[in-house]
Amino acid sequence: MTGRTLIRGGLVVTAADETHADILIDGGRIAALADHDSDTAAGWTADTVIDATGRYVIPGGVDAHTHMQMPFGGTTASDTFETGTRAAAFGGTTTVVDFAIQDVGSSLRAGLDAWHDKADGRCAIDYGFHMIVADVHDRTLAEMDTLVEAGVTSFKLFMAYPGVFYSDDGRILRAMQRAAGNGGLVMMHAENGIAIDVLVRQALAAGRTDPRAHGEVRHALLEAEATHRAIQLARVAGAPLYVVHVSAEQAVAELAAARDLDLPVFGETCPQYLFLSADNLAEPDFEGAKYVCSTPLRPREHQAALWRALRTGDLQVVSTDHCPFCFAGQKELGRGDFSQIPNGLPGVEHRMDLLHQAVVEGRLTRRRWIDVACAAPARMFGLYPRKGTLAPGADADVVVYDPDAEQTLSAATHHMNVDYSAYEGRRLTGRVETVLSRGVRVVDRGAYVGHAGHGQYVPRGLCQYL
Ligand code: URP
Ligand code: ZN
Ligand code: ZN
Ligand code: ZN
Repeated sequence: MTGRTLIRGGLVVTAADETHADILIDGGRIAALADHDSDTAAGWTADTVIDATGRYVIPGGVDAHTHMQMPFGGTTASDTFETGTRAAAFGGTTTVVDFAIQDVGSSLRAGLDAWHDKADGRCAIDYGFHMIVADVHDRTLAEMDTLVEAGVTSFKLFMAYPGVFYSDDGRILRAMQRAAGNGGLVMMHAENGIAIDVLVRQALAAGRTDPRAHGEVRHALLEAEATHRAIQLARVAGAPLYVVHVSAEQAVAELAAARDLDLPVFGETCPQYLFLSADNLAEPDFEGAKYVCSTPLRPREHQAALWRALRTGDLQVVSTDHCPFCFAGQKELGRGDFSQIPNGLPGVEHRMDLLHQAVVEGRLTRRRWIDVACAAPARMFGLYPRKGTLAPGADADVVVYDPDAEQTLSAATHHMNVDYSAYEGRRLTGRVETVLSRGVRVVDRGAYVGHAGHGQYVPRGLCQYL
């Protein structure tokens, strides 16, 4: 299918517009859009015509936070780049940005090469990389410059996980200063890991071993405190900041206060914080382990602040932080000690649908849905307008979306390589019908027609919000 494709009769929704338009695709890119009733559209011919009557036609989703086959907590995330990107495609996501990891004592380049070895030739959709900086020193800082030039323009640092990925404030400040100079974007895991580790030891000593304790020791105020500290460090360094997986309303307040000062401070949240809560961590028979991730799921009361921030723009992006571990054999590593439960939730397949449900329920407008799921992550990470929108010249990453179809999420039907669903039994209105990646159909009326290796590595530019 290398010829011309025409998508006819749908409601084209981007972050900026909603129009009844036809889309002409040629050579993997969008050639033109024209009003459905126009003479221009009537004159178009193509090798393939997709009828989108009664459907939305939207940009492919951009999931800027995934961890395919990530080694973590003594095990490895269960989706490979092959299975995870195929599941993403099923769910209407056509680009992921995954996290390559620097090992302590090793170089950024070695970490990046290792992630290319895992991903190259195996992905169903396009992919880029952020870099996790686990070991800040002179050589690492110099390497940040070369990575930015090579299209890895964002660097995740951790205020949590002492002894694993943790950096102290001095190291964080140095990395931020370097980013201020080279145009990179520092992404922060903002939780006070030193204090949390004290609370973990105290909880275990007091006989608290169940998953519910995971949410309690990772206190909302320790997320807010770290968020505040990260913002101040970024100000001192003169660097922009992007806070990942924001879950606490007090952390949202810190971001909103910074943005009220016009600081270049950004944030993402994830579907699990919008749709799940600490109640899930309390599910009996160790089932709560299925919902262990960091930052943790919060009491339901936090959700309103997250939704509000997505509407006002104090949070710009919804990513999944997809990091699946099977219940059997992986989550179970933490039976009898919640601190040994591998952290992470599966979700790459369901982000577009869960956010569409928010449209159905009146929490987000259609355009805001596309903004937080497609356009904003593309802009944030230097992929726009090639990704994240539907415009002439953009990659033809296009989803035909049926807003009226009903579906029930379940491990029995999902495509992620994990033995449970965090949303088991949840009924949603709306479903992905057909997905094109650079003009090539990868999902056709619900069936997978793509192949491993279709996905290409995408070097990224600088953050486009600056
Ligand atoms: O629990 C989580 N979020 N696991 C993935 C690693 C991270 O901190 O993003
Ligand atoms: Zn994190
Ligand atoms: Zn993550
Ligand atoms: Zn191909």
